[in-house]
Amino acid sequence: MSETSLNPEGAPLQIESDATEALTPTELRLRAVVAAARFHGVDLDMGAYRGPAAEPYPSPASLVTWLRDQGLVARAMKLAWRNLFRFKDAAPVVLLLKDGTAGLVVGADPTRDVVWLKSPTSRDTEPPVAVDRLRLEQAWSGDVILVKRPYGQTEGEAPFTLGWIFGKVLEEKTFIRQISYASVVLSALTIIPALMVMAAIDRVLEYNSMSTFVLLVSLMAVMMFFEMVLGWARRELILVMSARLDVKLNLQVFGRLLALPLDFFERSQAGETISRLREVYRVREFLTGKLLFTFLDGFTLIVMLPFMFYMEPTLAWVSIAVAGLIAIIIMVFLRPVGHLIAQAIQAEHKKGAVMSETVYGIRTVKSLALEPQQKIIWDERVADAGQWRLKAGRLGNWPQTLIDPLQTFMSRGVVLFGTYLALENDTTIDKGGLIAFMILSGRVAQPLIGFARLMEDFHEVRTAVGQIARVLNNPTETRAHNDGMRPKFEGQVTFEDVTFTYPLGQRPALNKINFSIPPGTMLGLVGRSGSGKSTITRLLQGINREYSGAVRIDGAELREINLSHLRRSFGVVLQDNFLFRGTIRDNITAGRAGLTLEDAVRAARLAGAEEFIERMPQGYDTWIEEGSANISGGQRQRLAIARALITNPRIMILDEATSALDPESEALVNANLTRIGKGRTMVIVSHRLSSLVNCDLIMVLDRGAVVDIAPHDVLLDRCSVYRTLWNQQNRHIDPARAAAALAQGE
Ligand SMILES: Nc1ncnc2c1ncn2[C@@H]1O[C@H](COP(=O)(O)OP(=O)(O)O)[C@@H](O)[C@H]1O
Ligand SMILES: [Mg+2]
Repeated sequence: MSETSLNPEGAPLQIESDATEALTPTELRLRAVVAAARFHGVDLDMGAYRGPAAEPYPSPASLVTWLRDQGLVARAMKLAWRNLFRFKDAAPVVLLLKDGTAGLVVGADPTRDVVWLKSPTSRDTEPPVAVDRLRLEQAWSGDVILVKRPYGQTEGEAPFTLGWIFGKVLEEKTFIRQISYASVVLSALTIIPALMVMAAIDRVLEYNSMSTFVLLVSLMAVMMFFEMVLGWARRELILVMSARLDVKLNLQVFGRLLALPLDFFERSQAGETISRLREVYRVREFLTGKLLFTFLDGFTLIVMLPFMFYMEPTLAWVSIAVAGLIAIIIMVFLRPVGHLIAQAIQAEHKKGAVMSETVYGIRTVKSLALEPQQKIIWDERVADAGQWRLKAGRLGNWPQTLIDPLQTFMSRGVVLFGTYLALENDTTIDKGGLIAFMILSGRVAQPLIGFARLMEDFHEVRTAVGQIARVLNNPTETRAHNDGMRPKFEGQVTFEDVTFTYPLGQRPALNKINFSIPPGTMLGLVGRSGSGKSTITRLLQGINREYSGAVRIDGAELREINLSHLRRSFGVVLQDNFLFRGTIRDNITAGRAGLTLEDAVRAARLAGAEEFIERMPQGYDTWIEEGSANISGGQRQRLAIARALITNPRIMILDEATSALDPESEALVNANLTRIGKGRTMVIVSHRLSSLVNCDLIMVLDRGAVVDIAPHDVLLDRCSVYRTLWNQQNRHIDPARAAAALAQGE
């Protein structure tokens, strides 16, 4: 159904995804604008749009007015097709189509001459559609809306683009200045040896003057020393600058990565994300290696060229012509080679993804004996990457081959040409001058070739930045972390008409959920797998924020609460908790500042972990390996509970925290729950009803809706879904007797 490819017959542009159930143009335009705003971390409510009534659908001006009212920076413009490519790394551009609908340009590929278009209704994970100029211009007259971050964005929110990186380089003003000075001096010095050779040949050899020779030798010695010192200084400066830039880039990358919301990570492959981010080394290497050196060589050129023209204009022109020819050769090969390099980089990412996937999933790979399959995939990816590299290398070999003779000509052939000129009496240059010219001319080629090569590398770096941007330039949670209220929580939780659909989901995971629990309640959540239990806990933690209705904590709508504050006020224990490498104590305090061993012990005691920790030979200093191989599942869960308790959170969430445990460990953890729950609101998800009987309230969910909410006895009495579940799990006991037994406290 979904029309997602270039249509050769030239049918009208159709980018709507299958989810579009005949939305009006107005809705489509608003959705596109809302999506663009969301990219910048601003959630707009479509329903709040009030445009002029006379408009059949929102005009660019009305949309811009609305966006500005909402605190965004927006601009309506007319753009030509070409200009769409300027936005390729940055935020989506809203295209207003002739028929009143809208689309989003989320990227562009100049090598294929297509832009990537998304429908405003498509989901985050749906791939964009490649559209070429012809097809786009049938539907689009050039109207776009550019949405930008509000003024005063924080540093961490700036999109990751080449421009941003250059900005970072330019921040190193002192260093750049020092490097420039060193280079100018060095460049000037490069001319002197040539002059000295000239002098030696012309004066010393012609007139046999020993004193001039001695002078030249001592000059040469001083020169060598200078060149050595300056060369050292230049390299030193570059080293320092690379190190600083490295730090800046890495901080930025990691900071942005952490600011991405959880659902981004759930959508994307970890391996691919990591290998994309690794590209940052390529960027740094380019900036402080090739780019800087070429820049510095450029100085040499500026100093040398006038001098060459002074010595012999004809020869200087010849040198320039040959150098120009070299540059042209490289330029011609630039695009095709760049294209192949981009392909090679892509192939390498895919290869890297297989590697990391295998390492992450090695347990599954081993236990299912999937090694041969993984090997086959790996072989394919390796072959693929190798092939693209080879292709790129082969094509890149050609310009090099063609340039080689030209370069030789620059350094030696020029002399022949000069000799010819001298024979024809067309020149004033003498023997010494010719040799000096040869020395200089050989150096002219280098910077020029460097410049041309730079373009080639630039392509590679642009690809790398694009890769990184695809990860980092996703909407972040940063605003939510910085803005919002920081109330002191009591622990009352209210859901009002909450409906929520996952970005990928077909139907709502939660459907008009309504309930309210007072502070200190122990709430159990039960329901079949997929009924929405975890989703409720995710909304509570602010992981998914695009729900409709209201989630309130002590009356405050969750999205208005500062996200960091919110998450710090929660203690969360999941089914499978990740323990970091480190000691037990480190794992309980989780690196939070200001927590002492006493705090760790208190939390461990409350979690029921104290008993086994003290039995360990090194107690709280016992080292936990990655993947916590040296402790049991039950112990790990109790440590996770201790870790969640250490901040003394007002609200605890346990999502199937005991489900993977053996009955004995489960009983141990459950025995502590009542103690843990004192003075806290607890939300406990479990598919084993027996562990929830002591809850104050149990909420029964079915397909995203609340079936009933009441204490165990009441539910057993009046809720058939609950009764069925209960009987399934406790078939061996007579329900009435079981209830009676439980009433006595199990
Ligand atoms: N990250 C996700 N993306 C898309 N759909 C999801 C995601 N997580 C859960 N769902 C869907 O939402 C529904 C509720 O899931 P969940 O709350 O995890 O159920 P439970 O915890 O009760 O087993 C299910 O239909 C599930 O398929
Ligand atoms: Mg679940």
